[in-house]
Amino acid sequence: MKTRWYKDAVIYQIYPRSFCDGNGDGIGDIRGIISKLDYIKSLGVDAVWLSPVYKSPNDDNGYDISDYRDIMDEFGTLDDWKEMIDGMHSRDIRLIMDLVVNHTSDEHAWFVESRNKDSEYRDYYIWRKGRGKNGKKPPNNWTSNFVGPAWEYDEQSGEWYLHLFSKKQPDLNWENPKVRQEVADICNYWFDLGVDGFRCDVITYISKKDGLPDGKLKFPLVGDENYIVGPNYHKYIHELNERSFSRYDSMTVGESIGITPDNAFDAIDESVGELDTVFSFDHMGVDFKFKVLPSKFNFVKYKKILNRWQQLPKTCQPTIFLENHDYPRCLPRFTGDYGDRRELAGMALATSMLFMRATPYIYQGQEIGMTNCAFKQEDYKDIMSVNALSMIKKVCPLLLPYARKVLLKRARDHARTPMQWTAGDNAGFSTAEPWMVVNPNYKEINVEDSEKRSDSLLNFYRKALAFRKGKEVIINGDFRLVCPKSKDIFAYIRECEGKRLFVIVNFKNKQVNFKLPKELTFDNCALALFNYADSPKVLNSMKLREYEAIVYEL
Ligand code: GLC
Ligand code: CA
Repeated sequence: MKTRWYKDAVIYQIYPRSFCDGNGDGIGDIRGIISKLDYIKSLGVDAVWLSPVYKSPNDDNGYDISDYRDIMDEFGTLDDWKEMIDGMHSRDIRLIMDLVVNHTSDEHAWFVESRNKDSEYRDYYIWRKGRGKNGKKPPNNWTSNFVGPAWEYDEQSGEWYLHLFSKKQPDLNWENPKVRQEVADICNYWFDLGVDGFRCDVITYISKKDGLPDGKLKFPLVGDENYIVGPNYHKYIHELNERSFSRYDSMTVGESIGITPDNAFDAIDESVGELDTVFSFDHMGVDFKFKVLPSKFNFVKYKKILNRWQQLPKTCQPTIFLENHDYPRCLPRFTGDYGDRRELAGMALATSMLFMRATPYIYQGQEIGMTNCAFKQEDYKDIMSVNALSMIKKVCPLLLPYARKVLLKRARDHARTPMQWTAGDNAGFSTAEPWMVVNPNYKEINVEDSEKRSDSLLNFYRKALAFRKGKEVIINGDFRLVCPKSKDIFAYIRECEGKRLFVIVNFKNKQVNFKLPKELTFDNCALALFNYADSPKVLNSMKLREYEAIVYEL
């Protein structure tokens, strides 16, 4: 029986490699997570989304899985994992695992077998003959999301296999019913071990267009649209829901490039029996997930996109996030240059997102306002950054300074620097040198310091989450954007059975004048949440201070 618990849940994302190192080898791990469960509980979150911890050769930090039923050595053992999930459940925290089934690792036993043309596993992957004389040209013009062609030639069989990500991440062939049954079995294996749901990695890529036709290539080197929400996508997800998701009180969230408010109903409505929720990426300023350059932040457009999700029927549950392990930190992208108002800016962002009708996600470090890092070229560890740099070095070294500039804005590495726990060695993340550089600002920005100050961003998140919990007006209320055209202010009204909530946030590092809509009255209103000690108890037409954020119960 589905309780749809996720409608009143806030989810905390852990990127295990960078969260906490429990055994002093410089790499975050499961024992590290166990040691921080009380901290996670103290935030007031309801669930954890854990990025992949399965066996993996780590070409893409665990998003290349070589055994779906066991834990990566660097992260610990299945027993550690069991202790972790017990520790979460005993604290009323649910666990969402990452399900990476568009592709496996090339070191997965299926793929190793599949290299043999006569193997029963050949058809688990997408093998094709090449084009041109001797078949030495790839079967089509698709490009990998990690730079270069999406096909790799295999000498042994004289054929090519498809990999929409790195060549160590061959795409599974979902047309093969055996593959689909394997995926359902994997999900059920983890459900039976107590998992509460899955975040489904690039799930809208699983069904490729028949015949794998060439696509229109877009500059610069982004993937092709002939595999996004392909012809059998809905059929396959519906089937997986029947065989697995629907049999448990589970929740699913798809990483769903290509699902927009226009087609979301068919993907997430409670009546369709597919996924419960999806992440979309339009509000992050990229129309395509791995587009190299995010467009400049357009605040009015941003509000419009979020508002469209809010207007879906109540049987379609939106999500909201500003950070994850694939994006730079949200400060200062959404707030502009915050100067010395970093935490106020973080509170403004938190307030704007936490009271929408949505399941919010908070990424590790977001709650203390961690920032991007001024990387040197040798600091980059992510396969996407490393590939991009080496390709440019090879093809056009003149562009290297430009590439470095782009990476400083766009690299996924920014989200993956070690979590800043203390002002001590290695930010308290590890007793050994961490696998990746620590952001040098850890002396000022860390959990230990944030705990001490009642007015810290961390404590603001706690207050906001406590206020949010169980409120029908937040879970289910109607959503109305106030002053949608304002270039500075994000304001909305939530309403449910006579209860009203008014949220108003100044996104700018300057004072802004604000005029209230006439129908808003503040008799009997209560100040519920605010980020200046002296925020006004009653709101008239007024000035909002830099990044001022207020929530009223009307
Ligand atoms: C998803 C993950 C990303 C990974 C990619 C390939 O987009 O979020 O980190 O590299 O899928 O699995
Ligand atoms: Ca470790």
